[in-house]
Amino acid sequence: MKTGNVVGLVGWRGMVGSVLMDRMQAEGDFDLIEPVFFSTSSAGSKSPAPAKNETLLKDAFDIEALKKCDIIISTQGGDYTSDIFPKLRSSGWTGHWIDAASTLRMNDDAIIVLDPVNLPAIQNALVKGGNTWVGGNCTVSCMLMAVKSLYKAGLVAWISTHTYQAASGGGAQHIRELLTQFGTLHAEVKSLLEDPTSSILEIDRKIIAKQRSLSAAEMTHFGGVPLAGSLIPWIDKDLGIGKQADEENWGISREEWKGMAETNKILERGHAYGCWPTAVDSYCVRVGSMRCHCQALTIKLKHFVPLADIEALIAADNEWVQLIPNTKEATLEHLTPVAVTGTLNIPIGRVRKLAVGPDYVGAFTIGDQLLWGAAEPLRRMLRILLAAS
Ligand code: HSE
Repeated sequence: MKTGNVVGLVGWRGMVGSVLMDRMQAEGDFDLIEPVFFSTSSAGSKSPAPAKNETLLKDAFDIEALKKCDIIISTQGGDYTSDIFPKLRSSGWTGHWIDAASTLRMNDDAIIVLDPVNLPAIQNALVKGGNTWVGGNCTVSCMLMAVKSLYKAGLVAWISTHTYQAASGGGAQHIRELLTQFGTLHAEVKSLLEDPTSSILEIDRKIIAKQRSLSAAEMTHFGGVPLAGSLIPWIDKDLGIGKQADEENWGISREEWKGMAETNKILERGHAYGCWPTAVDSYCVRVGSMRCHCQALTIKLKHFVPLADIEALIAADNEWVQLIPNTKEATLEHLTPVAVTGTLNIPIGRVRKLAVGPDYVGAFTIGDQLLWGAAEPLRRMLRILLAAS
């Protein structure tokens, strides 16, 4: 069945939604669609500039209005998806639902979309009538953009990732909280910093005292602890403590669980696909960067491969991956969140064989979690649907 081009947008004012809107405008996506803007709070107000015929915001809870769309893109969040998606489907709507939230990701009939990595899986599902498309977890998507070539070459026995995840992964309020904390800490020692003869240990004492005495209101979004000048080695829910790595909950966070579950689903590996899953184990850590997620990777190869071949595979995989020479100069220039923010580049550097053995490779990679980690796969999925119609 042909897909029309009436596209409902829900959650377009949020952080991921705003990045999505910018990218859609930059790539001319609105030229190809009839956009209908929905709102959970201000139905009836004026729609934003890309609107054409539908100039007023529709109610995002109005199933009849949603049903008129051929495609809906939601960046509204998991609660909205949990509420509206089942109602919409049970009303008989068979349009395409493209979602940033994790709610539907592991459903059998949902495809995790990251087309530079799994376009064949997307196309296959499309041919079979698939209509639920969900963007992946940001660390998973950014990691696969960097090293999918090694998986596809059948080289990865297992992978261990240690992440350094930006404040934006939590949401807009998390960024505000982080920056406010930085300001509070700076204010605490401003006069001491201005005095070159002041004691660094006094500065240190004042900072730790301030960090430990921040009010609950100053630490709401990061779970009651400061992020500024610190880090948080737990992201998302606590899945509980199991005793074995093959038990469902073996002492990992939900973010860490997603690493293995989603990587294997995207790569079509695991029991559902008639093969063993590839082990992906992670420590996911929140750090005080703005919107780029970084990851240090340890990859166990299935057999020895020269480093130059590994580098060649990575460099040739897709147009966004950038192999950064393993030098201090190149690393500082190209392999920091500040260098990558706002770009679609996926640099991967510090690539080297590890001391533990010749079959082990280490690497460090970065991606803007609002672009490849969130908005970009969604708008590319829209393009795939429009091209297929
Ligand atoms: N769960 C991610 C994070 C956000 O908290 O950083 C995007 O998947």
